[in-house]
Amino acid sequence: MSSPGTPPSSDNHGQSYAEVYRRSTDSPEDFWLAAAEAVEWETPPARALDDSAAPMYRWFPDASLNTCFNALDRHVRDGNGDRAALIYDSAMAPDASRTYTYAELLDEVSRFAGVLKDQGVVAGDRVIVYMPMIPEAAIAMLACARIGAVHSVVFGGFAAKELATRIDDAGPVVLVTASGGLEPGRTVDYLPMVAKALELSGTPPHTVIVKDRAQVPGSAADYQGGGAAWFDWDTLMADASPAEPVPVAATDPLYILYTSGTTGKPKGVIRDNGGHAVALTWSMRNIYDIGPGDVWWTASDVGWVVGHSYIVYGPLLAGATSVLYEGKPVGTPDAGAFWRVISDHGVSALFTAPTAIRAVRKADPDAKEIEKYDISSLKTLFAAGERLDPDTYAWATRVLDRPVVDHWWQTETGWAICANLRGLEPMPLKAGSPTVPVPGYRVEVVDAEGNAVPAGAEGNIVIGLPLPPGTLAGLWRDPERYVRSYLATFDGYYLTGDSGYIDEDGYVYVLGRSDDVINVAGHRLSTGSMEAVVAGHPAVAECAVVGIRDELKGQRPSGYVVLKAGVEIDPDTLRNELVAMVREQIGAVATFRDVTVVQALPKTRSGKILRKTMRQIADHEEYTVPSTIEDIAVLDALKKQLGG
Ligand code: COA
Ligand code: AMP
Repeated sequence: MSSPGTPPSSDNHGQSYAEVYRRSTDSPEDFWLAAAEAVEWETPPARALDDSAAPMYRWFPDASLNTCFNALDRHVRDGNGDRAALIYDSAMAPDASRTYTYAELLDEVSRFAGVLKDQGVVAGDRVIVYMPMIPEAAIAMLACARIGAVHSVVFGGFAAKELATRIDDAGPVVLVTASGGLEPGRTVDYLPMVAKALELSGTPPHTVIVKDRAQVPGSAADYQGGGAAWFDWDTLMADASPAEPVPVAATDPLYILYTSGTTGKPKGVIRDNGGHAVALTWSMRNIYDIGPGDVWWTASDVGWVVGHSYIVYGPLLAGATSVLYEGKPVGTPDAGAFWRVISDHGVSALFTAPTAIRAVRKADPDAKEIEKYDISSLKTLFAAGERLDPDTYAWATRVLDRPVVDHWWQTETGWAICANLRGLEPMPLKAGSPTVPVPGYRVEVVDAEGNAVPAGAEGNIVIGLPLPPGTLAGLWRDPERYVRSYLATFDGYYLTGDSGYIDEDGYVYVLGRSDDVINVAGHRLSTGSMEAVVAGHPAVAECAVVGIRDELKGQRPSGYVVLKAGVEIDPDTLRNELVAMVREQIGAVATFRDVTVVQALPKTRSGKILRKTMRQIADHEEYTVPSTIEDIAVLDALKKQLGG
């Protein structure tokens, strides 16, 4: 156990990457036990890895801790209660902005943990958090962690049906929400969506707790029913007694986060408590070079993994100050929004998605807005969520005159697989590459048969098992899908679903997904779930949705539809109806807007739609006609229609 004030032996700060990486792979047991010293345990780990049920691995099998204690209580106990923990900066409701010190945040979290306990929530119970970017979202997450409950945050841009699917899979006892979210030019009313989701769900929670926001009408009182009792957040908090942190096994789940797979059914990624605390604490220092008191800002949403790891848990575990920003990079009110936040709060490092940088660049190509603000506190800009294209990298590097660091990861891993580790001895940056594998990850590129490919050759990016601490412990209630989706393709390896290559210097290049998952404005979406909606239209015989190139958002979904025989429908009417259906059933975030009616879809002889070839045709890329094609004439007709 580390004692307050003693630098933990996990501190690899300033050491050479090659040396730290080598230790992580040569002696993972020692490496991760040393990293574990930066966390406070109820029962410290005597060993790091349990491989007795390989390929299912468990980290710190004999240890126990409380994640919320590590994120809050510990810092207050050590005399840092007055330090800012969370800065809520709302560009949408500036008057609501406020800063919580560690002591204040601990008070709110302990009381909300008391509220959950009063509602009968016990360790292991699930709690759905469906909230906009307000501090109560982070408070609800930490309160769950405090009492050993498992939170499952659902992104606010998802509609009722997606929420219902997640409710049915997670089986929550409580759902925490707010009256609504604030999007530019409109409010998003959450409560009708929650009510609808409860109606659609087979296993609704028994309690709904609503944070009533002054800016969005609607309250718990208006919405009783749906199998649940509805309560007002503030009323419950007024009478709540604080709850103490409960120690849980390191291997117990901290949260479930649903992410898009290739089918319409989302995957419930399970994150444990112990490995997560160790990995995120290590990452703050060694990847991001952020320590106690530094101001850190992740411009994402708590509904995504980036928000879980680096708006809430990572910075608080590290004792840093985290900015929770409600707003957009542009239009709230202008392309200077990011620079304003950096200057107002003295932000040391900003983490955002490349699409946000592209949006700023589009609105302010010469970065004139930067001149209006003092951004001297900013040391580094981190990007992830999609590839940081060389052009955007070059622009951001030029206008900021600071390191712009791409790093690659996924919901499943919970923290970076590849990065340029800013806390270690500096390594050169290369445009288009997230640099090198992070210690703990054995990254390789293999061909379709699982053979290693030479440097520079593209293939499937895989990671040798076991994955390091903090990565997924499995899929909620579906261990078979976990094995099938990630472990079964190449023995001894985790399949990332991304393709790319490794160059002669060991730098990794991630080029895109090799499956039907698409990435729209840094949001991971399943084309399968959009196809399921489109196929539900009475005029549609069959359809395919593929992700095509988009200048701003990286990719956007594009639908190709074959009409039922004899059906006549005006293309604009069809398009509007399909767009409305996807918006209603998946959510605005799907940004489904393109519909093309085609005569037939190109398929293999076994009936598989050639989505990759369709995407290549739509993007006017070179493609090879698959040898398994059923009818080449269909492909030729499509090419002619799409002007390829
Ligand atoms: N709740 C409700 N609706 C939401 C929402 C939320 N939390 N987030 C987005 N939406 C809606 C938007 O209002 C928009 O609706 P509209 O079709 O009525 O205009 C739609 O979903 C699409 O949103 P988005 O993809 O965000 O596009 P945009 O045009 O509003 O903004 C960017 C474009 C680039 C500024 C924006 O996508 C952005 O900031 N991206 C950063 C992404 C990011 O942080 N990703 C996290 C991974 S690191
Ligand atoms: P998500 O699970 O939503 O974080 O999305 C993960 C997927 O986004 C990855 O599998 C990649 O396809 C893509 N991705 C995330 N970060 C990067 C990056 N830095 N470079 C390339 N692709 C990325």
